Amino acid sequence: MIHILTATISSLCLLIAAVWTTTVVAAETEDIIKYRQGVMKSVGGHMAAAAQIVRGKVDYADDLVYHAESIARTMQTVESLFPKDTDFGETRALDAIWSQADKFKQVSDEARAATSAFRDTVKANDKAAFTAKFKTVADSCKACHKDFREKKEQ
Ligand code: HEC
Repeated sequence: MIHILTATISSLCLLIAAVWTTTVVAAETEDIIKYRQGVMKSVGGHMAAAAQIVRGKVDYADDLVYHAESIARTMQTVESLFPKDTDFGETRALDAIWSQADKFKQVSDEARAATSAFRDTVKANDKAAFTAKFKTVADSCKACHKDFREKKEQ
């Protein structure tokens, strides 16, 4: 009897350990997804703010360097936001990020180049150049979203 009880208790412990481990892993993935979406939202915010300045709608020209630097900084390491197996749960990240890794790297490189060029022209206070580069930046965001982000449900 005692033997059976001991056996039951130890298998129960194993089961609890297994469930606990799975939960921890799942929670980490969710946390990464939340972090990634937070970072992407912040880039979206900087882009929206920068657009208002670039289009001459508001007079916050002194803040443009800050927005441009933040956008460029995020794109420096954009791939790090997408560790393997973070494509399930509350995410719009598509499996193509990992299955077409070369193409994903290419659009990331383009976003890096575009956002760095935008930052540099802003820092040089070259209005004509940064107005043109801003469009390249927006295009580089779209290029990645087109192939690697799930479309919003209508
Ligand atoms: C290399 C690919 C890539 C690039 C470049 C990229 N994004 Fe994203 N972005 C994604 C993916 C994938 C998602 C979906 C993430 C998720 O749901 O987990 C996303 C999500 C977003 C979101 C929605 C965040 C949310 O959950 O509410 C915004 C806003 C956004 N990106 C803005 C931008 C802007 C602005 C740029 C350009 C400066 C940019 N992104 C560049 C891949 C990219």
